[in-house]
Parts: sequence; C-alpha cells; structure tokens
Amino acid sequence: MTTTTGTEQTQTGHTATAAASGNAATAAFAQKNRDGVDSSQERVDTLATELITAVHDVVRKHKVTYAEYDALKGWLIQVGQDGEWPLFLDVWIEHVVEEVANEDREGSKGTIEGPYYVPDAPELPAEATLPMRADERGTELLFQGQVTSVGGAPLSGARIEMWHADDDGLYSQYAPDLPKWNLRGAIIADDGGNFRIRTVQPAPYQIPTDGSCGRLIAAAGWHAWRPAHLHLKVSAPGHQPITTQLYFTGDAHIEDDIASAVKPELVLEPAPSAAGRGNEVMYDFVLGPA
Ligand code: DHB
Ligand code: FE
Repeated sequence: MTTTTGTEQTQTGHTATAAASGNAATAAFAQKNRDGVDSSQERVDTLATELITAVHDVVRKHKVTYAEYDALKGWLIQVGQDGEWPLFLDVWIEHVVEEVANEDREGSKGTIEGPYYVPDAPELPAEATLPMRADERGTELLFQGQVTSVGGAPLSGARIEMWHADDDGLYSQYAPDLPKWNLRGAIIADDGGNFRIRTVQPAPYQIPTDGSCGRLIAAAGWHAWRPAHLHLKVSAPGHQPITTQLYFTGDAHIEDDIASAVKPELVLEPAPSAAGRGNEVMYDFVLGPA
C-alpha cells in the first residue's frame, strides 16, 4: 500500500518525486502535442477573454489582496518548474473537457486519460499477461470481456491498450526503477472481439504530494487520492475509439476522487477467481460508429 508521506519508495528503494514524474509527464505531453491546434482568432479571443474575465470576477468577489496575488503568481511559476501542469490540468480540468467531448457518445462511457499514457506499448495476443516483474506485488486480476459495436456485432481484432499503476501506486516511465513497459500493453482481441488479460490489481493512487499540486492540496485541506484504476483505450476500424478507466467497488475514494473521473458505469465488481488465485471480472466495451 502507498504511504501518505508524499514520496514513494520503489521496490528497489529509490524515491519517486513529484518533480521527476511531473517533468516526465511534461516531456511526454510536449511530444504528443507537437502539432498544436488550428483555432480561429475569434475562438481564441472568446475563450481567452472569458477565462480572464472569470478570474477578474473571483478577484472582485473575494477582494483578493496583493499578498494573495503574489502567492498565486509564485505558485503558478512553481507548477511549471515542477513540470506539474499536466498533472494539475488532468486532475482539475480534464473531466469537464471529457464530459463535453463525449456528451453525444454512444456505447461505453469514457473518462479522463490522465498524464501517464504512453503510445506504442508492446502488442499482445487476445489472451495475455501484461508485462510485469517476476515478483510483481498485488492481487492477481483476470480481466476479460468482448468489444462490440452498438448493434452487438463483435469487433474482430479490436485493440485494447491498457496501462495502470503498480501496488505502490506508481506508473512505469514516470517513476524510477520500473521496467519500461511494466503493466502496459496493447492487446489485440480475437475474431470474436474477445480478450482475456491477466494483471495485478493496482493500488489506490495518490497524486504526488511533494510538489506544487501537493502544496495546493495541503493548503486547501483537500486529499490527494484517486481510487485504484485501470486505464484503457479501446479502438477498432470504423468505430469511435474510447479512452476510459475502470474502478473497483468498495474503494475508499470512489465517491471523492480528486480527479472527479469516476462514473457509476465504470465501477467493476471483481469476484474471487474460479481457479482460486486472485480475482476475476468481466467488462464489455461497446463502440459507436466513427
Ligand atoms: C493523475 C494521475 C492519474 O493516474 C490519473 O489517472 C489522473 C490524473 C495526475 O496525477 O494528475
Ligand atoms: Fe491513473
């Protein structure tokens, strides 16, 4: 289980820091975002003006002082220095962007991507075990299901990308000492759209508490927890891809996820495995037409 001291010791004893995971997330985002977006001047004007005006309204409403303004300025600068803008935005803003983006979506529910996706994970067959260490800790989990269209047609060869934290709440490529593709894989469903993935259940995840996002959380008296979750991107030719997460019933933070990303449809109820080892759970993905 994770500690609440703010930094995590990995299995080999190194410390995972906010600055290290934040800077890695910032670098990964810069890579993904190379092309930017081609917005009209009118759209930029509208969005920037309304955002700035919303801030003015808060200043007037709460009579924000110069001391508070300088504290904010210092904090915003520090978020950048810690590389924590991806974390900040994905925790406090992304869920509303996702809500708007997917309001007309048919089929399974999506939710936020978060900062720790990495493309091009190793491809695995329909029945596979995610890459993991020989002594990987955590309850074994068999995650199986089918990918179909909204009409119920099996989507042969659908791609299920899955990534999640380990039993310490740490993600490979964003924490020290983890094998590059630990607990990450791209599973190719069989001709019937079926998949059977073996992994270990992730631990509840605490967003880094030793950086500027952690300082905000402490200063505001909030908590830093997300419920344990599996991240997924599911796609098939001719269909709308989905980015989602799945949670586990009974988790202490289902009701108060710091990232506000839990939806009732996304909560799994694993049962003890028939084979007597760990848990198993079924979940089907339904994709709308592209
Ligand atoms: C953050 C981390 C996650 O694993 C996630 O799913 C969402 C947000 C974060 O640290 O910002
Ligand atoms: Fe996550």
